[in-house]
Amino acid sequence: MRTPKLPHIRPSEITAERYFRMRRGLLASALGLAGASLIPASGRAAPGAPAATPAAGAAALRYTRNPHFVAVDKPNTYEEITGYNNFYEFGIDKTDPAANAGSLRTRPWSLTIAGEAEVTGRYNLEDILKAHPLEERIYRHRCVEGWSMVIPWVGFPLGDLLKRFRPTSRAKFVEFTTLLDPQQMPGQRRGVLDWPYVEGLRIDEAMNPLALMVVGVYGRELPNQNGAPLRVHLPWKYGFKSGKSIVRIRFSARQPRTTWPAAWPDEYGFYANVNPNVDHPRWSQATERRIGEGLFAPRHPTEMFNGYGEQVASLYQGLDLRRNF
Ligand code: MTE
Repeated sequence: MRTPKLPHIRPSEITAERYFRMRRGLLASALGLAGASLIPASGRAAPGAPAATPAAGAAALRYTRNPHFVAVDKPNTYEEITGYNNFYEFGIDKTDPAANAGSLRTRPWSLTIAGEAEVTGRYNLEDILKAHPLEERIYRHRCVEGWSMVIPWVGFPLGDLLKRFRPTSRAKFVEFTTLLDPQQMPGQRRGVLDWPYVEGLRIDEAMNPLALMVVGVYGRELPNQNGAPLRVHLPWKYGFKSGKSIVRIRFSARQPRTTWPAAWPDEYGFYANVNPNVDHPRWSQATERRIGEGLFAPRHPTEMFNGYGEQVASLYQGLDLRRNF
């Protein structure tokens, strides 16, 4: 496969690090313990998939730790991060992705850049990886279902990749599309969601220094169940905004039609900023259960923007976050 060379980025355009440290409030009172599901109707798969085995032999990555992006919370274990997942392309139970994602082939892999940019085309993953020094960042990860984790990701700023393609002034949004291949992704043979999985951001959100293009966890290549070989993570947003196994990024003038709000517009919005004051119609978002602490541990209070308000609150000045949930 012949792919064009990755466009150059000027050093002055590389994302500036902004110092911050995370606060973590004390444990909150115990509230509801029931686990939520994203899908409204019944029809969840029966539990019983085998427990995840960490991807033995995942290649070690070269990276430096970025001390400016380190949540003070204790990171979850590798087993928790890679064994309790949402990746509906491999089934809807939390252990399905680890059990079934072995069928995904992550090499060769290419990323198509399309839409409102001066440079578009299809690029090899290897070239992208060569061009972006990797760093470790420990991020809080809050799922809309009410659970959370703390994850030492390895990746690089999403904005540094996007700037290479010189988005035009018409580019107001960025759309991320997951691989569509029912052969490799058995969950796509079922109509649980409208495949492929599509997510999107406003372009200023995508350019925020917190937005991370993730390629690894705990210093090793990302296991398939976490969205190998390329997934984003936006730690101030509910986890569903962070699309996995991305094959296409499109700059657009219009807000993209994204998977969850298209399926259930009353339950999931385009913004999906973590917000303890705006409940999901079927459960409270005021607190969260930290994976690994056990079902009966007290829940933690959820923080506005998942604790990242200092970095991102200015993006939403003047926006009604109750309407734009
Ligand atoms: N991306 C794709 N393609 N398919 C999915 O089902 N689930 C989302 C998000 N990205 C999902 C996805 C949801 S709901 C969450 S909470 C996170 O991935 C989970 O990421 P993790 O399994 O790495 O914790």
